[in-house]
Amino acid sequence: MLQRLLPLLVKLREKFPPAYNFLVRVAKRFLGGTFGVYPRPLANEVEAVTAVLRSSQWNMAYGAGLVHERLEAEFAEAVGARHAIAVASGGVALQMSLRALGLKPGHEAIHQVDTCAATAMAVMNAGVTPIFADISDRTFMLDGSDLRNRIGSETRALIATHMWGNPENISELRTLARERGLKLIEDACLGLGAVVDGRPAGCWGDVGVFSFGCVKPIQTGEGGMIVTDDESLARELRSLRHWGDRTIEFGVRDATQLAWNGRMSEILAAVAREQLRGYPKHLNELRDAVGEFQRTLDGFPGLSLVMGTAKTTSDCALTQVVLRVDESLLGLGKASLMSELKRNGIANGHGNFELINSLSFFKSDGWRDWILRGDIDRVGKNNGGSFPVAERVFAHDGLGLGKSNFLSAGNRKHLQSVLRSLTKGRAA
Ligand SMILES: Cc1ncc(COP(=O)(O)O)c(C=O)c1O
Repeated sequence: MLQRLLPLLVKLREKFPPAYNFLVRVAKRFLGGTFGVYPRPLANEVEAVTAVLRSSQWNMAYGAGLVHERLEAEFAEAVGARHAIAVASGGVALQMSLRALGLKPGHEAIHQVDTCAATAMAVMNAGVTPIFADISDRTFMLDGSDLRNRIGSETRALIATHMWGNPENISELRTLARERGLKLIEDACLGLGAVVDGRPAGCWGDVGVFSFGCVKPIQTGEGGMIVTDDESLARELRSLRHWGDRTIEFGVRDATQLAWNGRMSEILAAVAREQLRGYPKHLNELRDAVGEFQRTLDGFPGLSLVMGTAKTTSDCALTQVVLRVDESLLGLGKASLMSELKRNGIANGHGNFELINSLSFFKSDGWRDWILRGDIDRVGKNNGGSFPVAERVFAHDGLGLGKSNFLSAGNRKHLQSVLRSLTKGRAA
């Protein structure tokens, strides 16, 4: 049935968006499980929000076991960190982390060139300079030797992204950071639930940052979290999210840093607590479904699962399921595969983001208005440089399948049958 229905829905979305949106609302309300709709409530989100709205405490304040404080305790426990600081978004979490870790204008933070552009923007909004590095062909995340070559005299931090919830090579990066005296920030915005060597992603670095925004593992509309084991860093971060005010954490009415409103509302904290509660079951089901899909990939020469450093799907958060496409083995180019999947109603995208240095702001001179200190020539060369592996992954090798494809039996069957019909008789 889905085979016929989904292409019709794709056409409806293009021609009559209001009718499509109405159907999606109905499907979400009554048939969420059947159609694998995501995000959706994973526990008692509606009741939890109602309870906050019925109280008089909608904003973040301190003390008295408020909702965000309970969320912080539960989140810290879930990722095995001592402290968790609830914030307004993953981007502000990155900015606050860089500031709390002492990075100043002219200092550099290195991250992979094809992560979400939000990372580079957040680095710049913190007054810091992003330096891009290429990725490994195996993990689709930071390439250790390219990264080493990019470290310069002003480099102060590495930002390691657990891309799409695949675990990054974090113990190696931690060793490198220690050797070179650099701070390590784990960007786990897409990686809640991923596991590296038996320990959750996010608790390896000086800080780990998470997002609860669009397409993230758990969602609250907007929101994020920072985790750290360092008590004094946690206090600094709590002050930074409050326009730098030091009254609560340090007992003085003063501000010593340029800061942000990084607060999360109690309403969103209520959603986050319930999402977090329902997440382990959701993630286990997703892992099982993708594990089963992986076993069928033998039947599709030219397609294989990319899981970062993980050996099995049980260490991945699978926020998007990343496939390696071997175009010649498959007998089909990635671009054609993507458009055929889309035509058949299969949510898909690239296995990485477009290279950040290909965006006009970085490609043209837009960034020069904002990066005023440090080795500007070096930044210009980095922005204008080439990143061959990331370029190839974006153009040919990396495909992402939306997790909704795996969240219902009907969707999984549909995916299989579309892949079968697209690859039939083509493989080399
Ligand atoms: C890897 C990564 N880092 C950071 C962010 C920023 O998170 P937010 O949108 O919550 O600011 C995103 C958002 O898509 C992301 O994918």
